[in-house]
Amino acid sequence: MTMKPTWDSKIRKLLNDDLTSVREHLLRLDQESLYLRFGNTVTDAFLIQYVERMPDLDTVVFACCVDGAVRGVGELRRLGVGRDHEAEAAFTVERSFADLGMGTALMAAVINEARDIGVQDIFMCFELFNRRMRRITEKFQGLVSYDGRDCIGRVSIEAASRSGVRGLKAALMLPIGMTAIPALRPAQSE
Ligand SMILES: CC(C)(COP(=O)(O)OP(=O)(O)OC[C@H]1O[C@@H](n2cnc3c(N)ncnc32)[C@H](O)[C@@H]1OP(=O)(O)O)[C@@H](O)C(=O)NCCC(=O)NCCS
Repeated sequence: MTMKPTWDSKIRKLLNDDLTSVREHLLRLDQESLYLRFGNTVTDAFLIQYVERMPDLDTVVFACCVDGAVRGVGELRRLGVGRDHEAEAAFTVERSFADLGMGTALMAAVINEARDIGVQDIFMCFELFNRRMRRITEKFQGLVSYDGRDCIGRVSIEAASRSGVRGLKAALMLPIGMTAIPALRPAQSE
């Protein structure tokens, strides 16, 4: 019998200094996971550049670590001028750590962060057949709409909070001492 790996629910908000571990995580992902995440075939060079640009895009990054290695990442990025109360979220979990609750815990962290920074709605884009993302979206009272083979998941922070995200925060994050670390900011504004 193959043993599933375990993890200790530890989620960290990352600083710019930690981005190397995010790059390593993305470079470890299999092609299908990368396709599901980016909606296209991507190269290592793209991933390296993508991580380098994260601070400029004002992205808040959360990570699930196992034995010091980042195995899952949740990203939250505001949509920009005129859409201050909306943000985009995206998630990646390495295949050998799937279905252990990392994606759900990362979503809880992203929702808590969104609430703290005044975001009201989070959007996620994923493929129609991405059952894991649909399941996670629905766990947080999110709505899924369809556009061909793509789905847009929308999670209202208010609805998610009402339905027990605070409970999830307590269950998944607070007991293991999640520390408040400042969000990623562009290097020049630090
Ligand atoms: C989507 C992803 C982040 C989920 O991560 P994860 O850690 O496996 O997620 P969780 O374990 O928290 O939750 C997965 C849920 O889907 C369920 N699930 C798994 N396979 C399923 C299937 N075929 N049908 C329905 N539900 C399924 C699991 O049982 C679990 O639900 P549960 O907690 O109620 O049991 C991960 O699979 C991934 O990185 N995929 C590739 C990238 C991607 O798709 N990103 C999304 C773009 S935004």
